[in-house]
Amino acid sequence: MKKICTVVGARPQFIKLAVVSRVLRREFQEVLIHTGQHYDHNMSEVFFEEMDIPKPDYNLGVSGGSHGQMTGQMLMKIEEVLLEEKPDMLLVFGDTNSTMAGALAAVKLHIPVCHVEAGGRLGTLDNPEEVNRIVTDHVSALRFACTASAMEFLRREGIEGSSYFTGDPMYDAFRYYTERLDGSELSDLVDFAGKSLALPETFYYMTCHRQENTDTDEKLDQIFQAMEALDAPVVYPVHPRNHNRAERLVTGKGYRNILLAGPVGYKCSISLVSRAEKIVTDSGGLQREAFFAGKHCVTVFDYVAWPETMVNGCNRLAKPDKADILQKLGAEVSFDPAYRPFGDGHSAEKIVEKIKEFFA
Ligand code: UD1
Ligand code: UDP
Repeated sequence: MKKICTVVGARPQFIKLAVVSRVLRREFQEVLIHTGQHYDHNMSEVFFEEMDIPKPDYNLGVSGGSHGQMTGQMLMKIEEVLLEEKPDMLLVFGDTNSTMAGALAAVKLHIPVCHVEAGGRLGTLDNPEEVNRIVTDHVSALRFACTASAMEFLRREGIEGSSYFTGDPMYDAFRYYTERLDGSELSDLVDFAGKSLALPETFYYMTCHRQENTDTDEKLDQIFQAMEALDAPVVYPVHPRNHNRAERLVTGKGYRNILLAGPVGYKCSISLVSRAEKIVTDSGGLQREAFFAGKHCVTVFDYVAWPETMVNGCNRLAKPDKADILQKLGAEVSFDPAYRPFGDGHSAEKIVEKIKEFFA
């Protein structure tokens, strides 16, 4: 049996791992390396528990610091594991520092790299994840694209050979776990003091954690002012990156319409997506989930990350500006149920089939 080392480290990667690993382990020996990038219980362990992901074989304990420090430390530690394990392939997901560190460590050891969620491009190197995506795609031996537009970017960069459209594992996960919701997942919703939060009947669901929106008070406060002006409460599970800033702003300015919560598990998050009136986010994953659920979404970001979600205004970009966000939330949208650009919910099977062909 061929051995595949999979490197993950951040919340969205655990979700993709859950669906891909389940199929991969039928055909391959998987050795799971967790870099440690996300480490709080509700940013890491909760996903392994509720999504039945096997325990990592290694946890490298690398987190925080500058991008260079984090990536450098991961690179060193992943290399040590790869020298020990001698895998036939390395598998990575998405665009975090863990993704790029894994890919670089492997390619330097002449281990073929396989990249799931290849081909996403914003067109700016100012976005830290863009650097990770470009580097990872260009050192990979196999690339799997979630959408036709991602395939097109790979073609324009001359790396369409060994690139395949498989559909999006986030769509696989959304379909699989939506069927397994029963309302009990909402007990994850707790305020910053750990007290359980009752879900309002009508509410908006917001997540906001990007460096670009949360590293200064000014932009985050514009987003908060827009949320404060809405006609129903806003449920906002906060990423640890901006926990302190969010708490200081909401308390300091006396905002009453924003319900701050700790990060929730995946099932709770997709349950919130399905129950919310509308979604406000800067997350790559959440804007797709809003689309999967047929929910109007406003993405507070300067760049289109998932163009397919933008058709018919289902998802619109807004500046971190109160008036712009409110205007986009009030705009008309229409969903075409026949338009399914993220595949058929079986991307994991297609990915594993292509990996088998690679070895054959
Ligand atoms: C990372 C990804 C981003 C992705 C996000 C998913 C990169 C460059 N960015 O951003 O693409 O959208 O994950 O959530 O890799 N922290 C904690 N506890 C945790 C996790 C993080 O306190 O469990 C703190 C870290 O110590 C750090 C800050 O949050 O100070 C930011 O974490 P980091 O992993 O650097 O970046 P993310 O914003 O999570
Ligand atoms: N998510 C979650 N708990 C939360 C907020 C988000 O499980 O408190 C889920 C969300 O439903 C989506 C994924 O995390 O599946 C997106 O991850 P994130 O926004 O951290 O990263 P991105 O997708 O932007 O890289």
